[in-house]
Amino acid sequence: MSIKLKTPEEIEKMRIAGKLAAEVLEMIESYVKPGISTGELDKICHKHIVNVQKAIPANIGYHGYQHTSCISINDVVCHGIPNFEKKIKDGDILNIDVTVIKDGYHGDTSKMYIAGKPTVTGEKLCQVTQNSLYEAIKIIKPGIRLKEIGKTIQKYVEKFGFSSVREYCGHGIGKVYHDEPQVLHYDADDGGVILKPGMTFTIEPMVNTGDWRTRTMKDGWTVKTKDHGLSAQYEHTILVTENGVEVLTLRSNEDFPRIIEH
Ligand code: CO
Repeated sequence: MSIKLKTPEEIEKMRIAGKLAAEVLEMIESYVKPGISTGELDKICHKHIVNVQKAIPANIGYHGYQHTSCISINDVVCHGIPNFEKKIKDGDILNIDVTVIKDGYHGDTSKMYIAGKPTVTGEKLCQVTQNSLYEAIKIIKPGIRLKEIGKTIQKYVEKFGFSSVREYCGHGIGKVYHDEPQVLHYDADDGGVILKPGMTFTIEPMVNTGDWRTRTMKDGWTVKTKDHGLSAQYEHTILVTENGVEVLTLRSNEDFPRIIEH
C-alpha cells in the first residue's frame, strides 16, 4: 500500500479546499428546518459551491451520482439521495455530506443537523458521534498505528450503548477523492499502517443507536440501519503534522482546536 505524503504546497491547497467544504456546512445551517426538502437543501449547496466558491462539487458524476450532497435522515446511515419530495420533519436528525474540489484538491466533511425540536435519543446520538470523532482526532500524531483511530471510536461509542458501522470507512484524500489508506471506525486490522507527517485522510464515524449492521436500498445508494434504529455521522478531513494533527475542515463555530500539538 502506498500512502502519499503531501508537500507543503499541496497542504496549502488542502487547507483551502477544506475551508470551503466547512463553509458549505455553515452556510446551509439556517435552511435546515421542518418543511424544506432535501432536494432544495442540495440545490442551495450546489449554487454556493459553484457560484460563490467557484469550486467543483466532487460528488456529481462520481460513479454516476447526480447530486452535490448526500443527505441522510434518521435511520439512513449514509448516501441518502437528495429529493424534492422528501420533506424534513420536526425532530428529524440529518447528515449533510459535501466534498468540494478547489485547484485540484478535495475537502470532504459532514455534520448532523437537528430539525425543529430535538428528540432525547436523536440529540444524544449526534453528540456522542461528534465526540467520538473528536476523541479520535485528539490521539493523532506521527508514529501511532492507524488502527488506534477505529479502536478509540468503537470504545467511546460502545460506552453509551451505541455501535460503530463497519461497512463504510474514512479514506486518504488529496488530488484523489478516495485514496489509501482505508480508515476503519472500529478495532480492526490496519495492514500495519503507521501515521506520518503529511498524510491527509478523513475520519467519518457512522454511529447507530442499535446494531451496526446496514442494508442498501434498491436505488443502489441509500444505506439504512438493518434494525431501523437511528444513525448519525460526523466527518472531518485531517492532516497529520510533525507533532500532532490539523483539522482541515474545522468550522468557525466549532468548539474544537484546529491544531493539536503533542
Ligand atoms: Co468521505
